[in-house]
Amino acid sequence: MNNIQLIVKNLKKTFNRRLVFDKLSFEVRAGERLVITGKNGSGKSTLIKILAGVMNESSGSFEYIFDSGKIDREDIYKIIGLVSPYLVLYDEFSAFENLKLFAKIRNLKIDDDKINQILEKAGLFNRRNDLVRTYSSGMKQRVKYASAILHDPLVLLLDEPTSNLDIEGKDFVDELVQNFRKDGIVVVATNETQDFKYGQRIINLDDYKNNQSK
Ligand SMILES: Nc1ncnc2c1ncn2[C@@H]1O[C@H](COP(=O)(O)OP(=O)(O)OP(=O)(O)O)[C@@H](O)[C@H]1O
Ligand SMILES: [Mg+2]
Repeated sequence: MNNIQLIVKNLKKTFNRRLVFDKLSFEVRAGERLVITGKNGSGKSTLIKILAGVMNESSGSFEYIFDSGKIDREDIYKIIGLVSPYLVLYDEFSAFENLKLFAKIRNLKIDDDKINQILEKAGLFNRRNDLVRTYSSGMKQRVKYASAILHDPLVLLLDEPTSNLDIEGKDFVDELVQNFRKDGIVVVATNETQDFKYGQRIINLDDYKNNQSK
């Protein structure tokens, strides 16, 4: 079956001796949207980085299953779209050039029309040739969204999805999450109660701080 699934089992993360979370287990199936919340420093961004395959867990496991097979760690980037405050754009490139570069890094053959379409959707078309350095923070956030959906990912990982965005930008995120492929998975890490609507389920990382069995 062509179904994506995320299975997290007993996941634990520590930085040196500081525990961030422990005994974290959950499953997300195709079509599901999950919200991760918790206080500042509770580990939301850390969890998103782990799920994106860019940071190692300390113990436990997570895996993406597709077509009944486990996706290799080194291939995770192909199936996820990541939007986060620490994602870096190339300031001296235009939005268009940034997207071209992202496509190249991911080894995608994407024609200029498709890039322009996505830029249009993100409300950046008129400014597509300006250097990202000259963008407002909300506009930069929109470039990140454009780059996250460029390769039509199965999984969207969104860290603080609406930070810096005005009402129009928030509407854009709403629409993007709502129209995201129905056979896909969305995981949203947020402290904003207004973002809770993105998920059918909420996991609070404050509940995974000690050895209580969960
Ligand atoms: N690279 C790192 N090295 C050491 N400690 C780290 C590192 N990254 C995060 N931490 C620590 O891990 C904990 C969780 O941080 P994280 O950024 O995941 O929290 P968060 O829930 O995203 O917080 P916020 O709501 O402020 O974004 C914090 O105590 C933080 O100091
Ligand atoms: Mg964070």
